[in-house]
Amino acid sequence: MSSALTDLCRLPIVQAPMAGGASCPQLAAAVCEAGGLGFLAAGYKTADGMYQEIKQLRGLTSRPFGVNLFMPQPEYADAAAVDVYRNQLAGEAAWYETQLGDPDSGRDDGYDAKLAILVEDPVPLVSFTFGCPTRDVFDAFARVGTITVVTVTTPEEAQTAQWSGADAVCVQGIEAGGHQGTHRDNPETDGAGLGLLSLIAQVRETVQIPVVAAGGLMRGSQIAAVLAAGADAAQLGTAFLVCPESGANALHKQAMTNPLFTRTELTRAFSGRPARGLVNRFMREHGPYAPAAYPQVHHLTSGLRKAAAKAGDAQGMALWAGQGHRMSRDLAAGQLVEVLAAELAEAQAASAPAGEQGTRSGGQA
Ligand SMILES: Cc1cc2nc3c(=O)[nH]c(=O)nc-3n(C[C@H](O)[C@H](O)[C@H](O)COP(=O)(O)O)c2cc1C
Repeated sequence: MSSALTDLCRLPIVQAPMAGGASCPQLAAAVCEAGGLGFLAAGYKTADGMYQEIKQLRGLTSRPFGVNLFMPQPEYADAAAVDVYRNQLAGEAAWYETQLGDPDSGRDDGYDAKLAILVEDPVPLVSFTFGCPTRDVFDAFARVGTITVVTVTTPEEAQTAQWSGADAVCVQGIEAGGHQGTHRDNPETDGAGLGLLSLIAQVRETVQIPVVAAGGLMRGSQIAAVLAAGADAAQLGTAFLVCPESGANALHKQAMTNPLFTRTELTRAFSGRPARGLVNRFMREHGPYAPAAYPQVHHLTSGLRKAAAKAGDAQGMALWAGQGHRMSRDLAAGQLVEVLAAELAEAQAASAPAGEQGTRSGGQA
């Protein structure tokens, strides 16, 4: 299916926004230049930091790209639970010879200022995670010609996104690396997350807008599978995290295929919101006790994570990774896009009836 979204690039391959440094301008530019859609992650950055990266990316490529924003979190407070967790982490601070952060040092990361910049100096695509903006935000982006995408993890969230005015949804399966983009973090629904194929089918039958599929995708054959299931494009994070252009920490990159780290789990240990990462000591020791308190827990552990990285200790870092992490390939980003496109074309050719080819693999473009 062709849409304003899929017309942005030649291939149905999107490099996921990855806050924390991985999806830097160099990575996004390499993906864009190879025919995919590159993304910048504005999460945790200041509005000016985001804008500097946009300008840098524009200097590296003239092709369309996306910018991803974290939605501010609603008021809530279980200050007592955060306090208990702070006490639990005191030993970590002593071990890494650092301080715990102030849990109340900010509920959003300059969302309004970022919106103002993006409307003033528009980019081709803006996506949102951790919630759905109000209609006036979608209207403002529509007026300046920016395509909008909302991350969803349930059919209900997809319906909210469509009703509110989003141009497309990014359907994120439970396999996905990093944070789940769930609109409201609700501990009562822990463990109820849908696998990507189930979710695509349910969202497809719920909304009419284009669907980008994300979660555990590492090979072109998997991209073919999600396109066949009804997605219009595939978004890959973990696969691009290990690329040389990615700004992820070297220990994080190495951990993806390190046999010490055999599996991933969803945890609130680092940020207070469920996120999938390689199971390490910090996750095992603190995951079961971490409260549902984002971004308070994120602020609390920020210094610890930096200190662990500085000490070269992957056991204390947030090693975000999707379920397919072991299939990571240490290829330059442009080359990875080419390999994925070739695998996709091969898978589509193998499954197409004789003489009937030409689904959107980009091979003919
Ligand atoms: C290190 C890392 C950071 C991420 N940061 C963001 C982010 O800032 N915004 C966002 O919408 N998604 C973020 N994600 C989730 C991705 O958008 C995507 O859903 C996920 O990477 C797909 O699963 P995969 O990693 O198995 O490919 C992140 C994922 C990873 C691995």
